[in-house]
Amino acid sequence: MLTRRGLLKSAAIAGATAGLGGLSSAVALGEDGRWETAIPATTDATMVGVPFERHEKVRLGVIGVGGRGTGVLSNFLAVPGVEVKAVCDVVPERTARAAKMVERAGQGTPAEYHSGDHDYENLCKRDDLDLIYIATPWIWHVRMVLSSLKNGHHTATEVPAARTLDECWAMVNNSEKTRRHAMMFENCCYGETELMVLRMVKAGLLGELTHGSGAYNHDLRGELFSNGGEGLWRRFEHLDRNGNLYPTHGLGPVANYLDCNRGDRFDYMVSMSSQSVGLQAWREQHLQPDDPKMKEVYHCGDQSTSLIKTAKGRIITLEHNVSEPHPYDRINLIAGTKGMFRDYPARLYIDGQKEGEQFVGLDGYKADFEHELWSSKGELARKSGGHGGMDYIMCWRVIQCMREGIAPDFDVYDAAAWSAPGPLSEISVAKGSAPVKFPDFTRGNWHTARKFAGV
Ligand SMILES: NC(=O)c1ccc[n+]([C@@H]2O[C@H](COP(=O)([O-])OP(=O)(O)OC[C@H]3O[C@@H](n4cnc5c(N)ncnc54)[C@H](O)[C@@H]3O)[C@@H](O)[C@H]2O)c1
Repeated sequence: MLTRRGLLKSAAIAGATAGLGGLSSAVALGEDGRWETAIPATTDATMVGVPFERHEKVRLGVIGVGGRGTGVLSNFLAVPGVEVKAVCDVVPERTARAAKMVERAGQGTPAEYHSGDHDYENLCKRDDLDLIYIATPWIWHVRMVLSSLKNGHHTATEVPAARTLDECWAMVNNSEKTRRHAMMFENCCYGETELMVLRMVKAGLLGELTHGSGAYNHDLRGELFSNGGEGLWRRFEHLDRNGNLYPTHGLGPVANYLDCNRGDRFDYMVSMSSQSVGLQAWREQHLQPDDPKMKEVYHCGDQSTSLIKTAKGRIITLEHNVSEPHPYDRINLIAGTKGMFRDYPARLYIDGQKEGEQFVGLDGYKADFEHELWSSKGELARKSGGHGGMDYIMCWRVIQCMREGIAPDFDVYDAAAWSAPGPLSEISVAKGSAPVKFPDFTRGNWHTARKFAGV
């Protein structure tokens, strides 16, 4: 077993060789009984609060135009000030479809990159891009982020940004070294409800916050076994991983309510996984006995439940379940000394309210707390589409930050911290649900107060 002393020594070694990433993710038992991983040293300055340079237009490259990438491309094309210069996918018909969308939007013909798995590197080498958006299978995200950063481009990747702690650190180290932002496009942070609740929380409606809860409970069984789209890659994540595979949709909004990386931070977590039976039961019902998928062995528990403790003592519960039947639910709960909010459906309870001890809807609060992004652009967002309009609002806001030359709402530290429950839950589960520390990806800069979308 690696001791704390050994870990610190390996941290020093890793720090010395960190450069553009590459940290041993050895886990050691700390003196406080919690498992921990090394934090690499750096001489590079933080990216916390670093503004974008001003852009009159934002020149965009897109890597991955399958289901998600195509949807977000159409959102970007509806945002003023965006020029799509290049698109990439390993499937030529998809880059052709994307190029047509760009042409139809009156932007001319973008360059197409579709010559194999690594043609994205050629897109990244272009010198006429300001932002690269990545919507590919998870195993590709970070290598594409690094290629983009090293070529001088700001980067936005889909969720989860990273699958391992090494990948989290590689993003952080390279963003700091290249002075380019590596954002993760956590669209749920821009939901109409989430931004309104953020305003209510900041106005003190719920008092001093003590706990929150988030989830990705989404019946994906049909999609996971399909012969196209995510069925070609996402099911494989269930073969040898066991933990929360998709933590960011539930965690991002709750992290914002609790000011994580903006005055508080995730300290440690414990995690449990149920047995793995849901996918097996589904395929028995839906596949032929000789289907090769019948031979696959899934290790990922159907239900993943984790508890996160923050540095300020607050608690977050986090769930993941894509393998069993249930209605869609991100929970989205936040509570404190004066009341609580929970979603699905959205409902609020404020101590002493005239309606008595029962939840009430948000309608009565809209006039005071609707976020300006939604009051001014909600109609266009709903028309543009993408998860009820949140995708358009996110694209619009990121482009606004780049055009105005202000710091992004979310940065590489959020990308790393919100992705980290993936690998940390795997470590905790493997160690009998032992507590595992979050690395402080900000290296001490989490105290800095910052706003999210102006709130
Ligand atoms: N934020 C959200 O609400 C949301 C919703 C859906 C998916 N996603 C995320 O978006 C990403 C993509 O998911 P999807 O549903 O679009 O999957 P998809 O399978 O439909 O699309 C992925 C695309 O990437 C392409 N691709 C694969 N390897 C490539 C490579 N080396 N170079 C270039 N292109 C490559 C594929 O050909 C495919 O077109 C995933 O990270 C997923 O988790 C996010």
